[in-house]
Order: sequence, then C-alpha cells, then structure tokens
Amino acid sequence: MKEIDWWWPVALADDALQGPVALKLFDQPVVLWRDAHGRPALLADQCPHRGARLSMGRLEGGALQCPYHGWRFDADGRCVAIPAQPGFTPPDSSRVQRLPLREAHGLLWADVGGAVHTPPELSGVAARRLIYGPFDTATSAPRAVENFLDTSHFAFVHEGWLGDLQHPEVPPYEVTHTADGRPVIERYLAWQPRASATAAGGDWVEYRYEVLNPYAALLTKRSQAGGPQDSYTIWACPTTAESCRLWFAQYTTDEQTPDQVLLDFQVTIFSQDQPVLESQRPKRLPLSGGEAMGAADRLSAAYRRYLKHCGITHGVC
Ligand code: FES
Ligand SMILES: [Fe+2]
Repeated sequence: MKEIDWWWPVALADDALQGPVALKLFDQPVVLWRDAHGRPALLADQCPHRGARLSMGRLEGGALQCPYHGWRFDADGRCVAIPAQPGFTPPDSSRVQRLPLREAHGLLWADVGGAVHTPPELSGVAARRLIYGPFDTATSAPRAVENFLDTSHFAFVHEGWLGDLQHPEVPPYEVTHTADGRPVIERYLAWQPRASATAAGGDWVEYRYEVLNPYAALLTKRSQAGGPQDSYTIWACPTTAESCRLWFAQYTTDEQTPDQVLLDFQVTIFSQDQPVLESQRPKRLPLSGGEAMGAADRLSAAYRRYLKHCGITHGVC
C-alpha cells in the first residue's frame, strides 16, 4: 500500500480528550488516548492477549487498561502490567502496535508505516486560523478532495452563495504542476453572490488551487473588490475506503469577524456539499475511466492522474 508514504490526520491536536476513543484509519481499528503527561498515543485497537478492543477499556494510572483481563499498556504500546501476575515484568512481545504521531496545522497526524513525506507545508497563508470539523462523511477521501477542487458545482450546490444559476459557465483555466507533480491552478475567476461570511454582495473572486498531498488541498480566494484574503485547506482522514473524516481550516486576514460567524458560513457551505457528496456512486473515486470528463473538469482529471501517479489504491477504483 503506497499510502504508507504519507502522514495522515487523525484528530484535533488540542482536543482535551483523554480517551480512549475508537477510530479507523485505512479500515484498521485504532485507539487514540492520552497518557498521564497528556502525551497522545495511537495504538492498534486489539489487545495482544486475546484480541479484545482496547478502546472499550479505560485509563488506569496513566496507562490504557484492556477491558477483558486488565492488561495495561503505555503510550509506546508496551505492556506494563498483567494483573493476574502481580510483580511479573511482561516481555517485549506483549506489545501493541503503536502508530507514531506528530502535530502539524493544529491536527495530530499518524504514520501508518514508515512515512517518507512530512505533513504538507503551507506557505502564503494568513496567521488567523480556524479549524472546522470533524465532519464524518460517507464517501471516500478522494471524492471529498475532488469536490473541494471542483468549480462547476458552485452554481447548483451553492446557489446564491458561491455560485449563480444565471452563470453556471466555468471560464477556461490552466492546470500546471509543482516540481513534485502536484496539480495547481494559479488563477481561476468566479462570480460569487456571497463569497464569504462578510461579503456585502456579489463579486468576482480570484481563486488559486493547489493539491497538497493525495488527500489534502489548499485554495486561496480574494474578492477583486478587495476585502480579506481567505485560504482554506481540506484535511481528509481516510477512515475506510468509502468513508472519511474531514477538517477544513481557514486562514484569514479578516481579524474582525467573530469565530462563530465564520464557522456558521463554513458549516452552511459544507452542509450543501455533504448530501450530494454522499450520494455519489461509486463512493470510491474512479481512476481508470468510467466517468465523463468535460473541459470544466481539467483539475479533477489532473487530480485523478496525480493519485494514479502516487500509486494510491485506497478509496479509489
Ligand atoms: S484480551 Fe486484553 S487482557 Fe486479555
Ligand atoms: Fe462545494
């Protein structure tokens, strides 16, 4: 599985959560929790003793205690106590698989097996950051990212907001690539009735799109009339091949508008996307034909070629 080359987002970094919380990553059950020092840990959700779900256990003395016979594990996955044998030092073989975690962009990212690419770099984004989500979505991560990169749905899905039914046309745009092969649109112009939480009316809005990694992308938009510059990222956690957990981050030069107003706008936009996204069949993104492509879909086509080039096999068909 080529997906092991990347780190994948699994949770908000500043979540006060102690856990244990059951999650899925690439269809594998994992358990997230924090030890006595607040250190987050992600372990395979399967006890090495008799295979019980560790996420059904509880925290005991800063360790994760299995619900079945009470074996306790530390944040490195090492077994530190076997209650049936007091004083016994468990051998190293009684260990649970641990997935390394690191923090980036306000999220915890997991390494599922020797990642070679770091979490994406973000440059040119404003300092004020808001993170929205998680949104658990019943479609594959690549379908969700492709939707984030798609402009020709604005008039239909976001009528009166990001698009206008009187102007469904997609002006020509050019897709280029970064040195490492990620698709980019340097400039895309869209007429938007209500482009942001603070827009006073319709305006031409200039977009820049960049695919950041197989399941992440960045867009930056600014109204031609001026106003704040907003960058948005989509961070998709591939929970299963046909479901994902999404976060959207907004980086804005708008220092005035309250968090709640910006959040309400973003939640409204995604609540328009989600039902359509979840209605798509197949839920996995087709990489080898089977779906019609038009001139407006050049970025989608480039994204699919990029996934193929990366060797992605999960969430695609
Ligand atoms: S199954 Fe976990 S302690 Fe026995
Ligand atoms: Fe949308």
